[in-house]
Amino acid sequence: MKSRGRARAYANIALIKYWGKRDEKLVLPMNSSLSLTIDCFYTETEVIFRKDVDRDYFYLNDKLQGKDTTEKVSKFLDLFRKAAGLNLSAVVKSRNYVPTAAGLASSASGFAALAAAANVASGLNLDNRQLSIYARQGSGSAARSIYGGFVEWKKGSSHQDSYAVPIDDAQWDIGIVIVMVNSMEKLISSREGMKRTVDTSPFYKVWVESAEEDLKHIKIAIRNRDFKKTGLIAERNGLKMHAIMLGANPPFCYWEPDSLKVMQIVRQLRREGIYCYFTLDAGPNVKILCRLSESHKIKDRLIQFFDPDQVIIAKPGPGITIL
Ligand code: ADP
Ligand code: DP6
Ligand code: CO
Repeated sequence: MKSRGRARAYANIALIKYWGKRDEKLVLPMNSSLSLTIDCFYTETEVIFRKDVDRDYFYLNDKLQGKDTTEKVSKFLDLFRKAAGLNLSAVVKSRNYVPTAAGLASSASGFAALAAAANVASGLNLDNRQLSIYARQGSGSAARSIYGGFVEWKKGSSHQDSYAVPIDDAQWDIGIVIVMVNSMEKLISSREGMKRTVDTSPFYKVWVESAEEDLKHIKIAIRNRDFKKTGLIAERNGLKMHAIMLGANPPFCYWEPDSLKVMQIVRQLRREGIYCYFTLDAGPNVKILCRLSESHKIKDRLIQFFDPDQVIIAKPGPGITIL
């Protein structure tokens, strides 16, 4: 056994959203989803199983974490310990090169990096498919961050067949412009928000059917490298996800006034013939799917309204890397 592992994983932006679990413990989703891994946000995590500690220690961005966050990491490491027959506690050090809990997929890069590092440290050496199944149990969206480019997370019929698969490397002039409207931690976590939506939104059932339909069509659009269709489907799917939250009880909304401002700018750009499409996850920050070759033009427009530091250009990112 090696006992030490270190890995990097990149965040991903969902184009067809995962919003709701059919099994909360195993993190099995209600619908399949699809994302683009991006190269500008990532997490690096080191896991060391040690004989000289009697509990797990989790440091995030150099700060020792409290009980709740550490417990999530411990439970996740238990999956590896159990499979590897390992009885040691761990010291985990992670750094997010992404704002934490701001709707920019820190849980995706975070748990994918943790899974990849624990895989090495535990000596399990799972393949990427198994690793996706493990990452999924930390955070659903993390299942997709195992891979680069466009990735589908198949909802599956059970624990063993709910995993992500890479479907396209996205190397066809695809880019993402991110507008950081607010990078503070959100008040309602993705976990809590999706549970409330499933439990109380009268629109939930329609969402699931509609998302499966969107997925079918976006996969065809991606296969045909039909950028406009890909973008239009993604934009509509994202709006539908936010609509079902407005129907929840109590209702909630992740948008801020500046999120709407960005949506207006995107629509105006389209009227001018610059094809780009917005999507928001569980937070106020806006991601704009665009032609990479037009990303600078889009940024130039956005910085007429926002600080240049708030606007980030991303390329399609790679899968996990062992460091
Ligand atoms: P986000 O939009 O950033 O994905 P979530 O609400 O889905 O927000 O998840 C945020 C949670 O993910 C954090 O509170 C923490 O528990 C977990 N998390 C974030 N970064 C890491 C990391 N590097 N390692 C392990 N867990 C992480
Ligand atoms: C809106 O994967 O963060 O970003 O599985 O409870 O950890 P948990 O939730 P998480 O949810 C992501 C929600 C989303 C859409 C998506 O990424 O598909
Ligand atoms: Co998340």
